[in-house]
Amino acid sequence: MRDPHTTKLGKHQLSPQSLMMGYGYDPRLSEGSLKPPIFLTSTFVFDSCADGKRFFEGITGKRSGGPEGLVYGRFNGPDQEILEDRLALWEGAEEAAVFSTGMSAITTALLAHVRAGEMILHSGPLYAATEKLIDAVLGRLGVEFANFPAGASLDDVRALIEASRSKSRIAVIYLESPANPTNELVDIAGIVRLRDELYAGDPASKPLIMVDNTFLGPVFQQPIKNGADLSLYSLTKYVGGHSDLVAGGVVGSKSALLPIMALRNTIGTISDPHTSWMLLRSLETVALRMERAEQNARSVCEFLRAHPKIARVGYLGFLDPTSAQGRIFSEHCSGAGSTFSVLVNGGEAEAFRMLDNLQLVKLAVSLGGTESLASHPASMTHLSVPDARRKQLGITDNLARVSIGIESANDLVADFAQALEHV
Ligand SMILES: Cc1ncc(COP(=O)(O)O)c(C=O)c1O
Repeated sequence: MRDPHTTKLGKHQLSPQSLMMGYGYDPRLSEGSLKPPIFLTSTFVFDSCADGKRFFEGITGKRSGGPEGLVYGRFNGPDQEILEDRLALWEGAEEAAVFSTGMSAITTALLAHVRAGEMILHSGPLYAATEKLIDAVLGRLGVEFANFPAGASLDDVRALIEASRSKSRIAVIYLESPANPTNELVDIAGIVRLRDELYAGDPASKPLIMVDNTFLGPVFQQPIKNGADLSLYSLTKYVGGHSDLVAGGVVGSKSALLPIMALRNTIGTISDPHTSWMLLRSLETVALRMERAEQNARSVCEFLRAHPKIARVGYLGFLDPTSAQGRIFSEHCSGAGSTFSVLVNGGEAEAFRMLDNLQLVKLAVSLGGTESLASHPASMTHLSVPDARRKQLGITDNLARVSIGIESANDLVADFAQALEHV
Protein backbone atom coordinates (compact mmCIF):
# COMPACT_ATOMS: atom_id res chain seq x y z
CA MET A 1 0.00 0.00 0.00
CA ARG A 2 1.54 3.28 -1.07
CA ASP A 3 -0.70 5.47 1.10
CA PRO A 4 -0.38 4.12 4.65
CA HIS A 5 -3.72 5.64 5.66
CA THR A 6 -5.89 4.09 2.97
CA THR A 7 -8.25 1.32 4.03
CA LYS A 8 -9.38 0.44 0.50
CA LEU A 9 -8.07 -1.28 -2.61
CA GLY A 10 -10.04 0.65 -5.21
CA LYS A 11 -13.62 0.07 -4.08
CA HIS A 12 -12.71 -3.00 -2.04
CA GLN A 13 -12.78 -2.40 1.74
CA LEU A 14 -9.82 -4.06 3.44
CA SER A 15 -10.36 -5.93 6.72
CA PRO A 16 -8.52 -5.04 9.94
CA GLN A 17 -6.58 -8.36 9.66
CA SER A 18 -4.90 -7.10 6.46
CA LEU A 19 -4.45 -3.54 7.69
CA MET A 20 -2.61 -4.62 10.87
CA MET A 21 0.53 -5.25 8.78
CA GLY A 22 1.02 -1.76 7.43
CA TYR A 23 -1.69 0.77 8.24
CA GLY A 24 -0.55 4.12 9.58
CA TYR A 25 3.18 3.58 8.93
CA ASP A 26 5.15 4.98 5.99
CA PRO A 27 8.49 3.11 5.51
CA ARG A 28 9.80 6.05 3.44
CA LEU A 29 9.98 8.09 6.66
CA SER A 30 12.19 5.47 8.36
CA GLU A 31 14.95 4.53 5.88
CA GLY A 32 12.63 2.04 4.14
CA SER A 33 12.44 -0.12 7.25
CA LEU A 34 9.61 -2.62 6.65
CA LYS A 35 8.58 -2.52 10.29
CA PRO A 36 8.23 0.64 12.37
CA PRO A 37 11.32 1.28 14.51
CA ILE A 38 10.96 1.71 18.28
CA PHE A 39 11.29 5.48 18.68
CA LEU A 40 13.18 5.77 21.96
CA THR A 41 13.15 9.52 22.44
CA SER A 42 11.67 11.76 25.09
CA THR A 43 11.16 14.81 22.87
CA PHE A 44 10.74 15.86 19.21
CA VAL A 45 12.46 18.62 17.19
CA PHE A 46 10.26 21.36 15.66
CA ASP A 47 11.03 22.81 12.21
CA SER A 48 10.14 26.30 13.42
CA CYS A 49 8.67 28.22 16.37
CA ALA A 50 5.44 28.54 14.39
CA ASP A 51 5.19 24.72 14.27
CA GLY A 52 5.95 24.42 18.00
CA LYS A 53 3.27 27.00 18.78
CA ARG A 54 0.68 25.27 16.59
CA PHE A 55 1.42 21.85 18.06
CA PHE A 56 1.12 23.21 21.60
CA GLU A 57 -2.15 24.90 20.76
CA GLY A 58 -3.51 21.48 19.78
CA ILE A 59 -2.03 19.73 22.84
CA THR A 60 -3.42 22.26 25.31
CA GLY A 61 -6.84 22.46 23.67
CA LYS A 62 -6.42 26.14 22.73
CA ARG A 63 -7.24 24.99 19.23
CA SER A 64 -9.73 22.12 18.84
CA GLY A 65 -8.89 18.91 17.00
CA GLY A 66 -5.93 17.66 19.04
CA PRO A 67 -2.20 17.80 18.34
CA GLU A 68 -0.95 18.30 14.78
CA GLY A 69 2.58 17.10 15.38
CA LEU A 70 4.79 15.26 17.84
CA VAL A 71 5.94 17.28 20.84
CA TYR A 72 7.02 15.32 23.91
CA GLY A 73 7.04 11.69 25.07
CA ARG A 74 4.38 12.20 27.74
CA PHE A 75 1.92 13.38 25.07
CA ASN A 76 2.52 10.95 22.23
CA GLY A 77 5.06 9.24 19.95
CA PRO A 78 5.19 7.50 16.55
CA ASP A 79 4.77 3.95 17.91
CA GLN A 80 1.79 4.99 20.02
CA GLU A 81 0.18 6.87 17.12
CA ILE A 82 0.49 3.92 14.71
CA LEU A 83 -0.89 1.64 17.41
CA GLU A 84 -3.82 3.97 18.07
CA ASP A 85 -4.65 4.18 14.36
CA ARG A 86 -4.66 0.39 14.08
CA LEU A 87 -6.57 -0.27 17.31
CA ALA A 88 -9.39 2.05 16.21
CA LEU A 89 -9.87 0.04 12.97
CA TRP A 90 -11.21 -3.06 14.74
CA GLU A 91 -14.29 -1.27 16.02
CA GLY A 92 -14.61 1.14 13.07
CA ALA A 93 -13.97 3.91 15.62
CA GLU A 94 -12.90 7.47 14.88
CA GLU A 95 -10.10 7.57 17.43
CA ALA A 96 -8.10 5.52 19.93
CA ALA A 97 -5.72 6.24 22.82
CA VAL A 98 -3.26 3.88 24.47
CA PHE A 99 -2.27 3.76 28.13
CA SER A 100 0.32 2.25 30.46
CA THR A 101 -2.20 -0.30 31.88
CA GLY A 102 -5.85 -1.23 31.54
CA MET A 103 -6.49 0.46 34.89
CA SER A 104 -4.81 3.71 33.83
CA ALA A 105 -7.02 3.72 30.70
CA ILE A 106 -10.17 3.25 32.81
CA THR A 107 -9.07 5.80 35.43
CA THR A 108 -8.15 8.46 32.86
CA ALA A 109 -11.42 7.92 30.94
CA LEU A 110 -13.59 8.24 34.06
CA LEU A 111 -11.67 11.20 35.55
CA ALA A 112 -11.99 13.06 32.25
CA HIS A 113 -15.77 12.72 32.14
CA VAL A 114 -17.06 12.75 35.73
CA ARG A 115 -17.16 15.59 38.25
CA ALA A 116 -17.92 15.73 41.98
CA GLY A 117 -21.67 15.58 42.57
CA GLU A 118 -22.26 13.65 39.33
CA MET A 119 -23.00 9.97 39.17
CA ILE A 120 -21.61 6.80 37.57
CA LEU A 121 -24.18 4.09 36.97
CA HIS A 122 -22.45 0.76 36.48
CA SER A 123 -23.17 -2.89 35.82
CA GLY A 124 -21.92 -5.37 38.40
CA PRO A 125 -19.73 -7.19 38.96
CA LEU A 126 -16.82 -5.21 37.52
CA TYR A 127 -13.17 -6.15 37.50
CA ALA A 128 -12.30 -5.74 41.21
CA ALA A 129 -9.92 -2.77 40.73
CA THR A 130 -12.50 -0.92 38.60
CA GLU A 131 -15.13 -1.44 41.29
CA LYS A 132 -12.68 -0.11 43.89
CA LEU A 133 -11.79 2.87 41.69
CA ILE A 134 -15.46 3.88 41.36
CA ASP A 135 -16.67 3.09 44.86
CA ALA A 136 -13.63 3.98 46.99
CA VAL A 137 -11.41 6.38 45.03
CA LEU A 138 -13.88 8.43 42.97
CA GLY A 139 -16.44 8.07 45.77
CA ARG A 140 -13.97 9.79 48.12
CA LEU A 141 -13.72 12.66 45.61
CA GLY A 142 -17.49 13.24 45.72
CA VAL A 143 -18.56 11.17 42.71
CA GLU A 144 -21.76 9.23 43.38
CA PHE A 145 -22.48 5.77 42.05
CA ALA A 146 -25.20 3.14 41.78
CA ASN A 147 -25.12 -0.29 40.18
CA PHE A 148 -27.32 -2.93 38.60
CA PRO A 149 -26.59 -6.63 37.95
CA ALA A 150 -25.01 -7.31 34.52
CA GLY A 151 -28.00 -9.44 33.49
CA ALA A 152 -30.63 -6.92 34.71
CA SER A 153 -33.69 -6.42 32.50
CA LEU A 154 -34.01 -3.17 30.57
CA ASP A 155 -37.06 -2.33 32.71
CA ASP A 156 -34.90 -2.53 35.85
CA VAL A 157 -32.16 -0.38 34.25
CA ARG A 158 -34.80 2.14 33.14
CA ALA A 159 -36.15 2.36 36.70
CA LEU A 160 -32.63 2.89 38.09
CA ILE A 161 -31.78 5.61 35.53
CA GLU A 162 -35.04 7.42 36.26
CA ALA A 163 -34.59 7.21 40.04
CA SER A 164 -30.89 8.25 39.86
CA ARG A 165 -31.20 11.17 37.45
CA SER A 166 -33.73 12.84 39.70
CA LYS A 167 -30.97 13.04 42.35
CA SER A 168 -27.80 13.82 40.34
CA ARG A 169 -26.64 14.12 36.75
CA ILE A 170 -25.60 10.69 35.47
CA ALA A 171 -22.29 11.44 33.69
CA VAL A 172 -21.34 7.89 32.69
CA ILE A 173 -23.04 4.52 32.32
CA TYR A 174 -20.15 2.10 32.74
CA LEU A 175 -20.59 -1.50 31.56
CA GLU A 176 -18.36 -4.56 31.61
CA SER A 177 -19.48 -7.34 29.29
CA PRO A 178 -18.77 -10.21 29.72
CA ALA A 179 -18.30 -9.41 33.40
CA ASN A 180 -15.18 -10.54 35.22
CA PRO A 181 -15.43 -13.14 36.75
CA THR A 182 -19.02 -14.32 36.14
CA ASN A 183 -19.05 -14.04 32.30
CA GLU A 184 -22.53 -12.49 32.54
CA LEU A 185 -23.42 -10.35 29.51
CA VAL A 186 -24.87 -6.83 29.53
CA ASP A 187 -27.39 -5.77 26.88
CA ILE A 188 -25.18 -2.97 25.52
CA ALA A 189 -27.37 -2.16 22.50
CA GLY A 190 -30.51 -2.20 24.70
CA ILE A 191 -28.95 0.23 27.20
CA VAL A 192 -27.83 2.53 24.35
CA ARG A 193 -31.43 2.59 23.01
CA LEU A 194 -32.78 3.22 26.50
CA ARG A 195 -30.34 6.08 27.13
CA ASP A 196 -31.20 7.68 23.78
CA GLU A 197 -34.92 7.39 24.48
CA LEU A 198 -34.71 8.75 28.05
CA TYR A 199 -32.51 11.70 27.05
CA ALA A 200 -34.20 12.53 23.72
CA GLY A 201 -35.51 15.79 25.19
CA ASP A 202 -32.24 16.68 26.94
CA PRO A 203 -29.35 15.59 24.71
CA ALA A 204 -26.89 17.94 26.42
CA SER A 205 -26.94 15.90 29.63
CA LYS A 206 -26.88 12.49 27.93
CA PRO A 207 -24.54 10.13 29.85
CA LEU A 208 -21.61 8.60 27.96
CA ILE A 209 -21.74 4.83 27.63
CA MET A 210 -18.38 3.15 28.30
CA VAL A 211 -17.86 -0.61 27.93
CA ASP A 212 -14.93 -2.67 29.20
CA ASN A 213 -14.39 -4.95 26.18
CA THR A 214 -11.35 -6.84 27.52
CA PHE A 215 -12.82 -10.36 27.43
CA LEU A 216 -14.09 -10.60 23.83
CA GLY A 217 -12.67 -7.59 22.04
CA PRO A 218 -11.68 -6.59 19.55
CA VAL A 219 -12.35 -9.74 17.53
CA PHE A 220 -15.61 -11.17 18.94
CA GLN A 221 -17.34 -8.01 20.22
CA GLN A 222 -17.27 -4.36 19.12
CA PRO A 223 -19.38 -2.18 21.47
CA ILE A 224 -18.83 0.91 19.29
CA LYS A 225 -20.83 -0.87 16.58
CA ASN A 226 -23.59 -1.40 19.18
CA GLY A 227 -23.73 2.36 19.81
CA ALA A 228 -21.45 2.69 22.86
CA ASP A 229 -19.39 5.90 23.01
CA LEU A 230 -16.18 4.32 24.29
CA SER A 231 -14.80 0.79 24.35
CA LEU A 232 -12.07 0.17 26.94
CA TYR A 233 -9.40 -2.50 27.01
CA SER A 234 -6.86 -4.09 29.21
CA LEU A 235 -4.47 -4.68 26.28
CA THR A 236 -2.51 -6.84 28.73
CA LYS A 237 -4.94 -9.68 27.93
CA TYR A 238 -5.99 -10.95 24.47
CA VAL A 239 -4.65 -8.01 22.44
CA GLY A 240 -1.13 -8.20 23.93
CA GLY A 241 -1.75 -11.91 24.01
CA HIS A 242 1.65 -13.25 25.10
CA SER A 243 1.57 -12.48 28.85
CA ASP A 244 4.66 -10.29 28.44
CA LEU A 245 3.35 -6.70 28.74
CA VAL A 246 0.80 -4.51 30.53
CA ALA A 247 -1.12 -1.79 28.67
CA GLY A 248 -4.59 -0.34 28.13
CA GLY A 249 -6.62 1.27 25.39
CA VAL A 250 -9.76 3.33 24.79
CA VAL A 251 -11.45 3.59 21.38
CA GLY A 252 -14.47 5.60 20.34
CA SER A 253 -15.66 8.95 19.08
CA LYS A 254 -13.23 11.84 18.75
CA SER A 255 -15.41 14.08 20.92
CA ALA A 256 -15.42 11.55 23.78
CA LEU A 257 -11.69 10.84 23.43
CA LEU A 258 -10.27 14.37 23.21
CA PRO A 259 -10.82 15.20 26.92
CA ILE A 260 -9.35 11.80 27.84
CA MET A 261 -6.23 12.44 25.74
CA ALA A 262 -5.90 15.92 27.24
CA LEU A 263 -5.98 14.46 30.75
CA ARG A 264 -3.50 11.76 29.67
CA ASN A 265 -1.14 14.57 28.60
CA THR A 266 -1.44 16.14 32.04
CA ILE A 267 -1.11 13.07 34.25
CA GLY A 268 1.17 10.97 32.00
CA THR A 269 -0.69 7.67 31.66
CA ILE A 270 0.40 6.93 28.07
CA SER A 271 1.92 3.59 27.04
CA ASP A 272 5.70 3.66 26.43
CA PRO A 273 7.25 3.24 22.92
CA HIS A 274 8.60 -0.27 23.52
CA THR A 275 5.30 -1.64 24.82
CA SER A 276 3.45 0.09 21.98
CA TRP A 277 5.77 -1.55 19.45
CA MET A 278 5.17 -4.96 21.07
CA LEU A 279 1.43 -4.32 20.74
CA LEU A 280 1.84 -3.53 17.03
CA ARG A 281 3.39 -6.96 16.68
CA SER A 282 0.59 -8.53 18.75
CA LEU A 283 -2.15 -6.89 16.65
CA GLU A 284 -0.86 -8.67 13.53
CA THR A 285 -1.92 -12.02 15.05
CA VAL A 286 -4.77 -11.08 17.39
CA ALA A 287 -7.49 -12.56 15.17
CA LEU A 288 -5.54 -15.78 14.56
CA ARG A 289 -4.83 -16.19 18.26
CA MET A 290 -8.33 -15.40 19.47
CA GLU A 291 -9.96 -17.64 16.86
CA ARG A 292 -7.68 -20.57 17.64
CA ALA A 293 -8.08 -20.11 21.40
CA GLU A 294 -11.86 -20.01 20.92
CA GLN A 295 -11.87 -23.31 18.98
CA ASN A 296 -9.65 -24.90 21.64
CA ALA A 297 -11.92 -23.63 24.43
CA ARG A 298 -14.96 -25.23 22.78
CA SER A 299 -13.19 -28.62 22.61
CA VAL A 300 -12.07 -28.37 26.25
CA CYS A 301 -15.52 -27.21 27.43
CA GLU A 302 -17.28 -30.02 25.57
CA PHE A 303 -14.95 -32.55 27.18
CA LEU A 304 -15.44 -31.03 30.65
CA ARG A 305 -19.23 -30.77 30.31
CA ALA A 306 -19.44 -34.53 29.66
CA HIS A 307 -17.06 -35.46 32.51
CA PRO A 308 -18.67 -37.15 35.54
CA LYS A 309 -16.49 -35.20 38.00
CA ILE A 310 -17.60 -31.82 36.62
CA ALA A 311 -20.82 -30.23 37.91
CA ARG A 312 -21.04 -27.37 35.43
CA VAL A 313 -19.07 -25.37 32.84
CA GLY A 314 -19.80 -21.62 32.68
CA TYR A 315 -19.00 -21.04 29.01
CA LEU A 316 -20.67 -18.48 26.74
CA GLY A 317 -20.82 -21.03 23.91
CA PHE A 318 -23.27 -23.14 25.97
CA LEU A 319 -25.87 -20.40 26.51
CA ASP A 320 -29.42 -21.41 25.61
CA PRO A 321 -30.14 -19.26 22.51
CA THR A 322 -33.72 -18.70 23.68
CA SER A 323 -32.67 -17.36 27.12
CA ALA A 324 -32.21 -13.62 27.79
CA GLN A 325 -28.41 -14.10 28.02
CA GLY A 326 -28.42 -16.23 24.86
CA ARG A 327 -30.23 -13.48 22.97
CA ILE A 328 -27.75 -10.83 24.16
CA PHE A 329 -24.94 -13.16 23.07
CA SER A 330 -26.27 -13.60 19.54
CA GLU A 331 -26.90 -9.86 19.12
CA HIS A 332 -23.48 -8.72 20.38
CA CYS A 333 -20.88 -11.48 20.08
CA SER A 334 -19.44 -13.32 17.08
CA GLY A 335 -17.60 -15.85 19.25
CA ALA A 336 -17.55 -17.20 22.80
CA GLY A 337 -13.93 -16.37 23.62
CA SER A 338 -11.79 -18.70 25.68
CA THR A 339 -12.23 -17.67 29.32
CA PHE A 340 -14.75 -19.69 31.34
CA SER A 341 -15.45 -21.26 34.73
CA VAL A 342 -15.41 -24.94 35.68
CA LEU A 343 -17.26 -26.23 38.74
CA VAL A 344 -15.77 -29.46 40.02
CA ASN A 345 -18.04 -31.85 41.99
CA GLY A 346 -17.18 -31.22 45.64
CA GLY A 347 -15.53 -28.17 47.19
CA GLU A 348 -12.16 -26.46 47.55
CA ALA A 349 -10.21 -29.73 48.02
CA GLU A 350 -11.52 -31.20 44.74
CA ALA A 351 -10.94 -27.95 42.80
CA PHE A 352 -7.40 -27.71 44.22
CA ARG A 353 -6.70 -31.33 43.24
CA MET A 354 -7.66 -30.68 39.63
CA LEU A 355 -5.70 -27.39 39.50
CA ASP A 356 -2.60 -28.76 41.27
CA ASN A 357 -2.41 -31.67 38.86
CA LEU A 358 -2.67 -29.74 35.59
CA GLN A 359 0.69 -30.02 33.81
CA LEU A 360 0.42 -28.13 30.52
CA VAL A 361 -2.06 -25.55 31.88
CA LYS A 362 -0.23 -23.20 34.26
CA LEU A 363 -1.61 -22.15 37.65
CA ALA A 364 -1.69 -18.34 37.35
CA VAL A 365 -4.15 -15.45 37.34
CA SER A 366 -4.69 -13.33 34.17
CA LEU A 367 -6.08 -14.44 30.83
CA GLY A 368 -5.84 -14.04 27.09
CA GLY A 369 -2.27 -15.29 26.58
CA THR A 370 -0.99 -17.87 24.10
CA GLU A 371 -0.66 -20.30 27.02
CA SER A 372 -3.56 -21.74 28.98
CA LEU A 373 -3.92 -20.59 32.58
CA ALA A 374 -6.15 -21.71 35.44
CA SER A 375 -6.78 -20.25 38.89
CA HIS A 376 -9.06 -20.53 41.93
CA PRO A 377 -10.89 -17.19 42.32
CA ALA A 378 -12.33 -17.85 45.81
CA SER A 379 -8.85 -18.23 47.34
CA MET A 380 -6.92 -15.94 44.95
CA THR A 381 -8.33 -12.98 42.95
CA HIS A 382 -11.53 -12.77 45.02
CA LEU A 383 -10.16 -13.69 48.44
CA SER A 384 -10.80 -10.18 49.77
CA VAL A 385 -14.41 -10.06 48.49
CA PRO A 386 -16.81 -10.43 51.46
CA ASP A 387 -18.34 -13.92 51.71
CA ALA A 388 -21.90 -12.73 51.05
CA ARG A 389 -20.89 -10.85 47.86
CA ARG A 390 -18.81 -13.83 46.70
CA LYS A 391 -21.83 -16.09 47.18
CA GLN A 392 -24.04 -13.62 45.30
CA LEU A 393 -21.56 -13.67 42.39
CA GLY A 394 -21.53 -17.47 42.35
CA ILE A 395 -17.80 -17.66 43.15
CA THR A 396 -18.01 -20.94 45.02
CA ASP A 397 -15.13 -22.99 46.51
CA ASN A 398 -15.44 -25.63 43.76
CA LEU A 399 -15.03 -23.07 40.94
CA ALA A 400 -11.88 -22.80 38.82
CA ARG A 401 -11.39 -20.10 36.20
CA VAL A 402 -9.69 -21.14 32.99
CA SER A 403 -8.25 -19.11 30.11
CA ILE A 404 -7.45 -21.33 27.14
CA GLY A 405 -4.55 -20.54 24.82
CA ILE A 406 -3.38 -21.72 21.41
CA GLU A 407 -1.79 -25.08 22.29
CA SER A 408 -3.09 -28.25 20.61
CA ALA A 409 -6.70 -28.86 21.70
CA ASN A 410 -5.97 -32.62 22.08
CA ASP A 411 -3.13 -31.89 24.47
CA LEU A 412 -5.30 -29.56 26.54
CA VAL A 413 -8.08 -32.16 26.78
CA ALA A 414 -5.48 -34.79 27.74
CA ASP A 415 -4.19 -32.49 30.48
CA PHE A 416 -7.65 -31.96 32.01
CA ALA A 417 -8.38 -35.69 31.67
CA GLN A 418 -5.27 -36.69 33.63
CA ALA A 419 -5.74 -33.92 36.22
CA LEU A 420 -9.31 -35.07 36.89
CA GLU A 421 -8.07 -38.63 37.54
CA HIS A 422 -6.57 -37.19 40.76
CA VAL A 423 -9.92 -35.80 41.95
C1 LIG B 1 -12.04 -6.96 32.57
C2 LIG B 1 -10.77 -6.28 33.00
N1 LIG B 1 -10.67 -4.94 32.92
C3 LIG B 1 -9.56 -4.28 33.30
C4 LIG B 1 -8.46 -4.97 33.81
C5 LIG B 1 -7.26 -4.18 34.27
O1 LIG B 1 -6.23 -4.30 33.35
P1 LIG B 1 -4.67 -4.12 33.70
O2 LIG B 1 -4.28 -5.27 34.58
O3 LIG B 1 -4.02 -4.13 32.35
O4 LIG B 1 -4.53 -2.80 34.40
C6 LIG B 1 -8.50 -6.37 33.90
C7 LIG B 1 -7.34 -7.13 34.43
O5 LIG B 1 -7.45 -8.30 34.73
C8 LIG B 1 -9.69 -7.04 33.48
O6 LIG B 1 -9.80 -8.39 33.55
